[in-house]
Amino acid sequence: MEKIISLAKRRGFIFQGSEIYGGLAGIYDYGPLGVELRHNIKQYFWDKFIKEREDTYGMSAAILMPAKVWEASGHTELFADLMVECLLCHRRFRADQEEVLSEHEEEHKKSLKEVTTFKKMWSGPKVFNLLVETRLGSSEETATSVYLRGEITQGVHVNFKNVLDSMHPKLPFGIGQIGKAFRNEITPRDFLFRQREFEQMELQYYIKPGEKVGREMFEYWKQFALDWYYGLGFRKESLRLRQHAEDERAHYAKDAWDIEYNMPGIGWKEAWGIHHRGDWDLKRHAEFSGVDLSYFDEVEGKRYIPCDIECSGGVDRAVLFVLLEAYTEDEMNGEKRVYLRLKPELAPVKVAVFPLLKNKPELVEKAREVYLALKKQFGNVLFDDNGNIGKRYRRQDEIGTPYCVTIDFDTLGEKPELKDTVTLRGRDTGKQERVTISGLGERISSKRP
Ligand code: GAP
Repeated sequence: MEKIISLAKRRGFIFQGSEIYGGLAGIYDYGPLGVELRHNIKQYFWDKFIKEREDTYGMSAAILMPAKVWEASGHTELFADLMVECLLCHRRFRADQEEVLSEHEEEHKKSLKEVTTFKKMWSGPKVFNLLVETRLGSSEETATSVYLRGEITQGVHVNFKNVLDSMHPKLPFGIGQIGKAFRNEITPRDFLFRQREFEQMELQYYIKPGEKVGREMFEYWKQFALDWYYGLGFRKESLRLRQHAEDERAHYAKDAWDIEYNMPGIGWKEAWGIHHRGDWDLKRHAEFSGVDLSYFDEVEGKRYIPCDIECSGGVDRAVLFVLLEAYTEDEMNGEKRVYLRLKPELAPVKVAVFPLLKNKPELVEKAREVYLALKKQFGNVLFDDNGNIGKRYRRQDEIGTPYCVTIDFDTLGEKPELKDTVTLRGRDTGKQERVTISGLGERISSKRP
């Protein structure tokens, strides 16, 4: 994790939020490369869950929602963690994080001689609500309390009727979105893993009520979400599915499974949740808003409130886990190197183009020509003429660029048979081959690095 945090900062992936002012705990900013990686992950979600399917729709709801929404969804009352306070230093922690609590005890033990003092360490547990509240309005008297959404889910449920009335979908169908969520986490930790502002990608899949259909659909989406996660490039043994125990489930869930990632040095952690939410949300919103949120089933000739199978993934956790999974140390040409074994589709830079020498205008000119042509085709292409070629390769390896292209004197025709060819170097093997400029685009898109 330490290596990833350092690489992420050094190479422009992720920075501490508002770092020059000391930062805020659990808040991070994405830099030029991080934002591309995150975008590629979100795009992959959108393609698989929305664009390539016939039964799903995309939407984008607002972040600010009236307090009533969260009363209806049960979050005002039940979206809470148990918190304990250290009576010695008054720091607060989640009561269920035993490992963190013992780490903290160990810190105090080192400095405390009297075990008796140590025994009086923790306060009793208190309920702490995670919703982030703010106020909206131009004066103190008229301003109303609103919440930054604690999960993006409710934005979909409150628009259920709008989508029904505008798109006229037939059950089963899904509505998905990607967006920010906010939680006043008691102990934000492990870099992007537990933040206070983070992004989620979710699908709410509405189905006809009934035990059998619910079970089948739940199994289908569990597998779909797991396959999607493997599609990010994870090894078989890095992911697993785990069912929540009854006392672990969120208040809305009839059944809940997590896709977990085996974080190096940390262990199995939640990447994604698949929840059977039953008719909890629509029923409660119908009750609290007074608006009929039932669906008319034309085949059965009756109205009912559909049930919801939810796939809910953390975007930032996917970014973190993809980085952890891709981080590789090996040896190349007798030197240690670090590279990110990212899938080419996810890599923030697709190709880097180098002139062999920076001070030869004819090389630079040709390299820029190749660079601009590739940029047109692949978008995120980088031009680099700094330092020697070996250093440039190492820099690209470290950010996971699948290919590097070098323009040398042979490209210009020093050896006539090699005119208009370049060196193409693959990231994982370091192997180099000679490829014609006209065939470069095709070669890069069809081959693994
Ligand atoms: N709508 C259901 C829901 O929000 P959740 O299990 O609380 O369920 C879903 O969250 C996903 O959102 C998690 O699997 C995780 O990937 C991500 N997530 C939740 N809390 C997070 C946090 N504090 N920081 C980063 N990601 C978080």
